[in-house]
Formats: sequence, C-alpha cells, structure tokens
Amino acid sequence: MAEATSERPEGAAADWTIPQEWERYTAAEHAMWDYLFERQASMLPERVVPEFMDGLNVLRMTRKGIPRFDELSERLMKATGWQVVAVPGLVPEKVFFEHLANRRFVAGRFIRTPEQRDYLKEPDIFHDVFGHVPLLANPVFADYMQAYGKGGLRADGFGSLTSLARLYWYTVEFGLIRHGDALKLYGAGIVSSYGESVFALDDASPNRLGFDLKRIMKTHYRIDDYQQSYFVIDSFEDLLRQTVETDFAPLYAQIRNEAPIPTDTVLPSDRVYHRGTQAYARAKAEASGRFFLGKVPVSEPVKVAPLTTVQRSEALAALPAWTYDKNRRAFYRKLTFKDFSAAFGVMTRIALEAEKTDHHPEWTNVYNRLEIWLTTHDAGDVSDKDIKLAKVIDALAPQGAE
Ligand SMILES: [Fe+2]
Repeated sequence: MAEATSERPEGAAADWTIPQEWERYTAAEHAMWDYLFERQASMLPERVVPEFMDGLNVLRMTRKGIPRFDELSERLMKATGWQVVAVPGLVPEKVFFEHLANRRFVAGRFIRTPEQRDYLKEPDIFHDVFGHVPLLANPVFADYMQAYGKGGLRADGFGSLTSLARLYWYTVEFGLIRHGDALKLYGAGIVSSYGESVFALDDASPNRLGFDLKRIMKTHYRIDDYQQSYFVIDSFEDLLRQTVETDFAPLYAQIRNEAPIPTDTVLPSDRVYHRGTQAYARAKAEASGRFFLGKVPVSEPVKVAPLTTVQRSEALAALPAWTYDKNRRAFYRKLTFKDFSAAFGVMTRIALEAEKTDHHPEWTNVYNRLEIWLTTHDAGDVSDKDIKLAKVIDALAPQGAE
C-alpha cells in the first residue's frame, strides 16, 4: 500500500498513521462488511489455504461487523508480534516498508459503498483486513512480510522497487500455493475478490506457473483486471527461505539489463501447472470495461494499450507492405536490397530513428534480405508505437522495395 510520492495528510502522525475511529462506522458500513464477509466465507473454505481460515478463527474475525484494529492487534501480537494500523490511503514506499519491517500492517479504514461492491479504485478495509490480516497470524507468512519490508528498505532506487513490487504483487496479492495435489489461494487480492477467487483457480484463461523469484521480478502485472499469470509457491516456508537467502543486489543489477516479461508469457523454463488459453484477457481487450482488484504497492510503469482488432486492421490498411504475425503478435515486413551494404545502411538509419523514440524493431538480416517484426512488450501486442515505427521504416526503405 504505497506510492512513489505524496504529501502527508493533515492529522496523520509522522509515520502516517491515523486513529481507526471505529465508533464512527455506520450500521450500513457494518452491514457492507458482513455482506462481503459472508460472500467470501461461503466459498473460500474449499479454495483458500487452510492457514487463512485458521487466521480468521484465531483473530475472531468471524464475528459480525467491521473489526476493531486494537482488538486485532492484541490477538495478532500474541500470535506473531504483528499489529494493524490505520492510514489515510496510499503511503510513500519508505513508510510502507518501515511499517512492515517493524511488523505493522497498514490498512485503510474506509469501506466501499454499495455502488463499489465489485469495483474499487483504492483498496478499502475489506481488502486490507479480510484479505491480508488472517495470514499475518501464521508465523512463517508473518516473517515473510517482515522480510519483504526489510528488503524494501534496502532496495536502491526505482528499478529495484519495480522488481520488488512485482514480487509483492505475485505473492502477497495474487499468490497461489500447492496443497497436496491441489492448488489453493493465499493472495489478498484474490481472496478479497469474489470473481477472482473462482477465476484464479478454475478458469482456463490464466497461466498457473511455478514460483521463480527472478522470473517474477521481471514480469509485468495487470492492475486493471484479473491476472493473466499466477505463480504457485510450494509452501510459505519455501517462500520465506528463498526471500531471506537471496542476495537481491546482484539480482536487481541483472534484471535491469534484461527485458521485462509480458503478463501472459510462458517461458520454456517455466514449471507449468496450467497453460492458459488467455481467452478472457483477449475478450476483455476488445471490450473497454475496466475494474480494479488489488493494490499497487509501488508504481508500475504505465502500461501501453494494445491496438484493438479493429484498430489493427485500419493500421494495416494504411501500411500495405506490412502483415500481422499472430504468433509473435507483431507487424511484419520483409525487405530485399541490392546487396548487404544497402541493407546495412537502411538498418543503421532505422536504428537511429528507433533510438530517438526508444522503441526498437526486432529483425533478422541475411545478406540483402531483412525481416522486421514490430511489437510493444509493455502492451503484449502491437500498439500505436508500432504504427509510427512502421511508417518511419517505410519512409527509409528504398523505393520499389518488396
Ligand atoms: Fe493488498
């Protein structure tokens, strides 16, 4: 629950905490909590990791009404030494990490309105408390959260924070865990969402891949919709061990030099539990509805929108030399030159133009032949950037080139 920069609101303490003011919740707000709680509690027992249900019981969260943070903290303190503190909204990264490193979980105190039941911009108390707090009663998961906070305080600069945010996203928010032969939920973004609690486990659309720390830290994520890939840990012990034993500094350095992985990619090195059809994501990309399901712990670079099928057809109509390569999700063009030197000259000029806009073609060149693919990794498909680059290449290609 953090963002890169923001002003501390009036009335918040130096560590950004505010009183929960539990007495001020209205009957309608308590009723909203009860509604959301019942809806999740009726379907989660079969789906969620047993430690989550244990946490609900240990913390006596099964009682009606919005929980009091002071009571939760008292029980958590006995179980694992954690506390829950209220904050006004998103907090700066350093404040967020500082709290985690000191075993304090920061939570929003407001609850969604009936209109926001399934659509919420900023995480509310139901996401934060129902989603996150039960597992903090588990000693191993509680240690992982603290280790994550300490890692955040050690991280140096934006590149590392982006990688760390991805780790948080694919574990704390959207993680799956192996349980015997089955997969179970544990990520707060999933367990606090009615729709995603089903989608993440049962739908054929998303990938379900084995946890791989470095791979996850290179993988983009969706903040606007259900995830296109979920990662499965073997156990909380294994997650904690890998996080504590990994030397993150050299890992950040490596990652900075490698291309990020799109949200839907399955790599040859992945342990595949389920290879997703991505049917849901494709259908959604063609429609325009957006809804929020989790919380961004730090800012992810802005995602580029892929072209819709209609936009793509229009673009291709205006670019007759280009076709669409379905497998690579890229615009494709072949060029034949007089000789290698002519090909190389044009490639150099294209590369200079590409450098200016920081958007680069993928190509292969054999003697006088050049094959070019244009795609936008941040969009997972072709985007406006590829149309622009295609026009630049057409202008630089010799007249009469194929
Ligand atoms: Fe969250």
